[in-house]
Amino acid sequence: MTDIVGVRAREILDNRLEPTLRVTVETPAGTGTADVPAGRSRGTREAVEARDGGGRYRGRGVRTAVSTVEDRVAPELRGRSVTDQRAVDRALLELDGTADLSDLGGNVVTGVSLACLKAGAAATGRPLYRHVGGATAARLPVPFLDMIEGGELSGSDLPFQEHQAVPVGADSFAEAIRMGAEVYYELGDALADSYGQASRNVGDEGGYNPVGMGDPREAFACLWEAIEELGYGDSFALAADVAATHFYDSDAGCYDLFGERLGREDLLALYEELVGAYPLVSLEDPLHEEDFAGFAELADRLDVQVVGDDLFVTDPHRLERGIERGAATALLLKVNQVGTVTEASEAARLATRNGYAVQVSERSGQTPDTWLADLAVGLGAGQIKTGVTRGERTEQYNRLLAIEDELGANGTYGADGFAEP
Ligand code: PGA
Ligand code: ZN
Repeated sequence: MTDIVGVRAREILDNRLEPTLRVTVETPAGTGTADVPAGRSRGTREAVEARDGGGRYRGRGVRTAVSTVEDRVAPELRGRSVTDQRAVDRALLELDGTADLSDLGGNVVTGVSLACLKAGAAATGRPLYRHVGGATAARLPVPFLDMIEGGELSGSDLPFQEHQAVPVGADSFAEAIRMGAEVYYELGDALADSYGQASRNVGDEGGYNPVGMGDPREAFACLWEAIEELGYGDSFALAADVAATHFYDSDAGCYDLFGERLGREDLLALYEELVGAYPLVSLEDPLHEEDFAGFAELADRLDVQVVGDDLFVTDPHRLERGIERGAATALLLKVNQVGTVTEASEAARLATRNGYAVQVSERSGQTPDTWLADLAVGLGAGQIKTGVTRGERTEQYNRLLAIEDELGANGTYGADGFAEP
């Protein structure tokens, strides 16, 4: 009853009005449909997406990927059980046969893998987070809320991609979101007063785009002021996704920041200054994606969580290299960076075994599909980041609120233990 009888795909649209894949896996006992997210601020080592090229949708169409799912993947998977996720994922990787998934396309592999996962949950009659994590899955993640946006995902002049508020002192996920929402309203009013009404405009992940603000120190100052204004100083910490790869000039070997050319040491000094001035607890991609040594030095020097996104690309092999060198303290987990659910889960297990925290993450291109929220609870990740506003983000929060209700007294919210594996 759990054997795959059909695999279908459609071209749908994400939050940027760009095409993406929606895959459906059918069994007699239940069906799963999953949408594939898409990154814009991508790591060089990520799996390669299948895009059609040409003029249609500026080359971003996924019609070829739809055909690949139906003509090449479906015959291979028919008759396999959706309850054996490992075997399905192995079959996908073997069918592709490349290291970067450029044959089938990373989006094809991720879409089929996730749809199989959801079909497995449907066929066994369990909520998705239980299907992923078993009966003990009960940890609600701490949300890293992207309040002010910069970098590649926004129209602001800020070089850092995300300036996040982290509700570390809330008693529950519901309290965390309520307090986070109140900070968001307060910050919106303050930014409109100081930087003009257009500062309420938001980026791809729903964070504000303050007009004329170009210095992360200013962003953290405004964010912290809004938090303190509400009397929430004891309940919040700050964090950043610097996404430093995207302002690194690899030819010149330096970072283009504030109209200057900065070296690794200058950047480390800036982080030291920020950590001294604000309760900054986490830095994602503080240096460019190949600087394992710089990451290790930072992790050694500063008492903050160091998160590897472009650095690890959710690849167990790169994570292993990072662990050996002490390059970080946390893994950012994005399924479509690596390809399959099995590989992403392996990366999470490897991280946890080595004392690394896991932060489950959206992509800047998303749909309202909420597998991400279930995956975070299923993996027992202490942290999630999924932007802040816009429907495709708030749906993840709505799903986590529902899971917390469902778990009742059995649910735990990570609070200040977010950095524990
Ligand atoms: P992306 O950005 O989804 O566009 O890659 C998010 C991030 O860098 O964390
Ligand atoms: Zn990132």
